[in-house]
Amino acid sequence: MYLKLISESVNHIANGKLGMTIGIEGKDELTQLAQNINYMSKELENKFEYERRIENEKNELITNVSHDLRTPLTSIIGYLDLLKKGQYDNKLQYQECLEIIYSKSQRLKYLIDELFEYTRLSSPDVKLKLSEVDLAGLLEQIVGEYIPIFEKEQLSVQKSIREEYIPVLMDVEKMVRVYENLFMNAIKFSLKPSELHIKLEAKRNKAILKVSNKTEKPPVNDVNKLFERFFRGDKARRNNHGTGLGLAISKRIVELHDGIICAEYKEGWMNFILEYPIYRK
Ligand SMILES: Nc1ncnc2c1ncn2[C@@H]1O[C@H](COP(=O)(O)OP(=O)(O)O)[C@@H](O)[C@H]1O
Ligand SMILES: [Mg+2]
Repeated sequence: MYLKLISESVNHIANGKLGMTIGIEGKDELTQLAQNINYMSKELENKFEYERRIENEKNELITNVSHDLRTPLTSIIGYLDLLKKGQYDNKLQYQECLEIIYSKSQRLKYLIDELFEYTRLSSPDVKLKLSEVDLAGLLEQIVGEYIPIFEKEQLSVQKSIREEYIPVLMDVEKMVRVYENLFMNAIKFSLKPSELHIKLEAKRNKAILKVSNKTEKPPVNDVNKLFERFFRGDKARRNNHGTGLGLAISKRIVELHDGIICAEYKEGWMNFILEYPIYRK
């Protein structure tokens, strides 16, 4: 009887009822067989779900990308068409069309570059060029380079970076992208004039960087959604010429370094927190 039940169940599983399990009876070889089949059935279900999720994500990515790429391209074609048909009154109008075509082409290049970076980093065999660097020194340098830009944008920087040597293993070029995106985001999305806080500290075996800026309200209720690709908050924020890929790329880079990046919103402050392991030989 039990053998018959097992055999029927295997048939069902083979015909697509993944995840289906057989009731466990007795305590002999058949029981063991049934347990193994249950395990296999669950595993198959998980693998199948995983594949399906990846497939959905890929489709969604393609849909989003096509839409984002089409927008500047449509406008480039439109303006080129005007020029081709000679539909302009004077040299100035001609020049204006060219300017638009040029800036839309740059936008297109930017989108393609970001997308390329994102897919490259998502591949399972991405390699980092790791070297030992002093995080405090590196951040001092980058923040220093950004200070004139912050000031021009009416953000006054309050930085607290302890002057001790904080060794970390990093792919500098990639990690600099993360910092640049955080700083550019602070410029694009904070209330102005206001303060920008940049704080680095070493706690036990972790280096913790916190970048905080003021915003009127949180961009979304669950601010960790911001790390999802193409997520750009509400409509008003979508006019900033970003791609919504910056934080998704950053998260991937930080995770490749065995670090964590997260966001939190507290009383008008948007905080981005980045943690990585300190490197001790
Ligand atoms: N410092 C910040 N303050 C407030 N909102 C932010 C900040 N950084 C990011 N955001 C929100 O998160 C979204 C995603 O950021 P990001 O992935 O870098 O994309 P992008 O900069 O291309 O819009 C932004 O569109 C914005 O709504
Ligand atoms: Mg950004």
